[in-house]
Amino acid sequence: MNINQESLIADLDRLAQIGRGADGGITRRALSFEDAEARGYVKQRLAQLGLEIRHDEVGNLRGRRPGRRDLPPVMTGSHLDSVPSGGRLDGPLGVVGAIAALEALGSVQTVRPIEVVVFVGEEGSRFPRGTIGSAAMSGHVAVQKIWELRDPSGVSFRDALATYGDEGEPIAARSAPFAFVELHVEQGGVLEADRLPIGAVTAIAGLVQRAVTFFGDANHAGATPMHLRHDALLAAAEWCLGIEAAARELGCVGTVGKLEVQPGGKNIIPGRVDCICDLRAAEASTLDALDRRALQLLEQVQKRGVTVEERLLQRVEPGPMHERAIAGVERAAAAAGLGCRRMPSGAIHDALHMAEICPASMIFVPSIGGRSHCPTEDTEPRHLVLGSTVLARFLLEFANLADEN
Ligand code: GLV
Ligand code: MN
Ligand code: MN
Repeated sequence: MNINQESLIADLDRLAQIGRGADGGITRRALSFEDAEARGYVKQRLAQLGLEIRHDEVGNLRGRRPGRRDLPPVMTGSHLDSVPSGGRLDGPLGVVGAIAALEALGSVQTVRPIEVVVFVGEEGSRFPRGTIGSAAMSGHVAVQKIWELRDPSGVSFRDALATYGDEGEPIAARSAPFAFVELHVEQGGVLEADRLPIGAVTAIAGLVQRAVTFFGDANHAGATPMHLRHDALLAAAEWCLGIEAAARELGCVGTVGKLEVQPGGKNIIPGRVDCICDLRAAEASTLDALDRRALQLLEQVQKRGVTVEERLLQRVEPGPMHERAIAGVERAAAAAGLGCRRMPSGAIHDALHMAEICPASMIFVPSIGGRSHCPTEDTEPRHLVLGSTVLARFLLEFANLADEN
């Protein structure tokens, strides 16, 4: 089972040109022209493999390799959308790795079909929620609700779907695969520190994101004495530091990564700050505790004479992967002679929703310096190949299991 490193890297390089900015980061928001161009490239690669290509009601792209019997397929894939100025591997590796794995399988027949999926809108960097494609596929969110999502300019998800230019009737988003596995970069430093090429993902942490606006009084930076100010930015800053302290205390993570200060003049006291917090924990009770602390802190900072408005953007419950699929990743790594460890994922992935409907897990490969969601995200080429090798072995084993369904 030989992965073609040259074509794997060529596909990743090609995708990395789409939406690349001056800082080398990649910006492909869901259903943007860049996202559509990347998806178009992948569609053409799936067609070269002779797969039956379809799109579903929410824009997931699916390529099916038939099995000897028309049983529920083994599914694999990831996403092509990105965070603003993100890396080249978060998402694309799971798609390109699937192409490389199917190329490695060549003409080997399997009992079950194998399906490659490109999930739409995983990152949540345009519409108010992420993991859109898998939420629809699992039935976690109704298709109608997804169509009604609106981006900050008011464009509905349903209207934005036109950017993909798909022709013909879409298939239903709901699906019931036999198993699901996603190849992905780890995005942390655990595998690198352990000098291991493969991680078998056991669980995915949950997430709460809230949009918060602090309203103060814009006023003169020279003429207004300190005790007469209502500085919206100082209230926001106190809140950010409070989230940091609470996350450290609770042993989880909290980030305020988006913050807009208005009017934004160097000699004006900030009158308004819009920000978004991102709170994550492996346990739902810890996530609740951090979220409660973030809300209490919002009450406290109002002593600065500011008012606050807040709105829940999304809450994603933490979830386990399936033992059957986790053990499958371990077996595939062992069969390839590779070291592997079980580990949780701090980042959200489509595998979380897929685990609601079938045995699912993920194959992690090391991230250099543990860096991700930034332009310097990278992985050693040999690790990209090894991850794809494990994926190919997993697909071959699971696609030859005829025992159920
Ligand atoms: C997705 O990458 C997320 O965890 O935000
Ligand atoms: Mn990501
Ligand atoms: Mn990802």
